[in-house]
Amino acid sequence: MLPLITGSALIATDRGINLSLWHDIIDSLTDAIIVLSPAMEPQAVNPAAKTMLGVSQVSAATVADLVHQNDWLGRMVGACLDSGQGLGDMEAVLTAGPRELAVRAEVSPLLNTEGRPGGGVIILLHDLSHEKGAAEAATTGDLNLRLSPAGLAHEVKNPLTGIKGAAELMARMFPDDPRAQQYCGVILDGVNRIASLVEQVLMVSGPQRLAREPVNIHMVLHQAMRMAGLYPQPPDGVVVVQDFDPSLPDVIGDADALERTFLNLIKNAVEAIDLSGTIRLHTRIEREFRTTAEGRRRRFLRVEVSDSGPGIPEDQLAQLFTPFFTTKPAGTGLGLVLCQRIIALHGGRLWAQRGGVDRTKAAGASKDGMTFKVTLPMMPPEKPPQ
Ligand SMILES: Nc1ncnc2c1ncn2[C@@H]1O[C@H](COP(=O)(O)OP(=O)(O)OP(=O)(O)O)[C@@H](O)[C@H]1O
Ligand SMILES: [Mg+2]
Repeated sequence: MLPLITGSALIATDRGINLSLWHDIIDSLTDAIIVLSPAMEPQAVNPAAKTMLGVSQVSAATVADLVHQNDWLGRMVGACLDSGQGLGDMEAVLTAGPRELAVRAEVSPLLNTEGRPGGGVIILLHDLSHEKGAAEAATTGDLNLRLSPAGLAHEVKNPLTGIKGAAELMARMFPDDPRAQQYCGVILDGVNRIASLVEQVLMVSGPQRLAREPVNIHMVLHQAMRMAGLYPQPPDGVVVVQDFDPSLPDVIGDADALERTFLNLIKNAVEAIDLSGTIRLHTRIEREFRTTAEGRRRRFLRVEVSDSGPGIPEDQLAQLFTPFFTTKPAGTGLGLVLCQRIIALHGGRLWAQRGGVDRTKAAGASKDGMTFKVTLPMMPPEKPPQ
């Protein structure tokens, strides 16, 4: 059971653990943690929980829906609140909105400074889809209903390696036979495409371990632009507008994962304008701040990626972040899902808005095109020396 006690007690401990470190630890966990008051109000929620539930904020209504959709979880929470005893190791299918996910759940009482229950409950949810998918397929054969994308990805990966190796060997056996070379090429192209799809699925649904280091967001954007072929020189016909606030402090996070995220967004913009149009990258400090459950003020920076492409119809806006939604012949429809997951794991938010940049007015707003908006928590300013 999770031995959590309330924050004030932690600051007072002579083990030197401070609240900020404790906060970072909880935020870094890949297991979802949701702390509820006795009245079932959310008190603290880590980014992994928001990702698992597919929401950017967890409100009392989110909790009510969750408990309504998962009566087993409601029963565990009720029993824990009534008895003050923890309940652990319950394996179940968690329904979160339209998604179903195999999880292992633990519910523990939130202890007060005297070590007594009464302060609410801590729900810990461990995503089992990785382990579960394959095991369940073996016992039930019920691929459609139970097999998670991660389970399927694992199942597909092994035979793929064998097919790829055999096709490469065969191509080497018949170096002078053009038809053999052509057939082997078709096999290898197909295998590579499936392999990259599988990688994407694993990245979206598997556990992510992210670094937590100071990251300069402009270096990340330049690197992503370089990988997308826009920096230092964009191709003819493409105008890149960099509207950066150079005074932005670092964010705390994983530079590689953030580069992948912005590469995905920039690649989508490049594909949308189809080699003719404007892409605008804009950074600034977010005016609003958020107050954490512990009363800390968190400040955010904002990055916007806009383009002058055709945009998307209003009715498709809600589908953008749905796995496998794509309008491209060779698209996986997982790019934006992965971006949203990585940003949520950083404690930020990613959303889309219709309307981008007007090519004729360079940086001016336009009804056409799209804008993808990202917020990320900034590094707190250094404390002045005492
Ligand atoms: N900048 C944009 N302008 C217009 N439509 C967009 C834009 N970005 C995303 N979309 C729409 O959202 C869909 C999903 O995007 P996502 O990045 O998740 O997958 P994809 O680009 O189709 O595939 P992949 O990322 O694997 O190449 C796209 O197919 C496209 O219809
Ligand atoms: Mg994409």
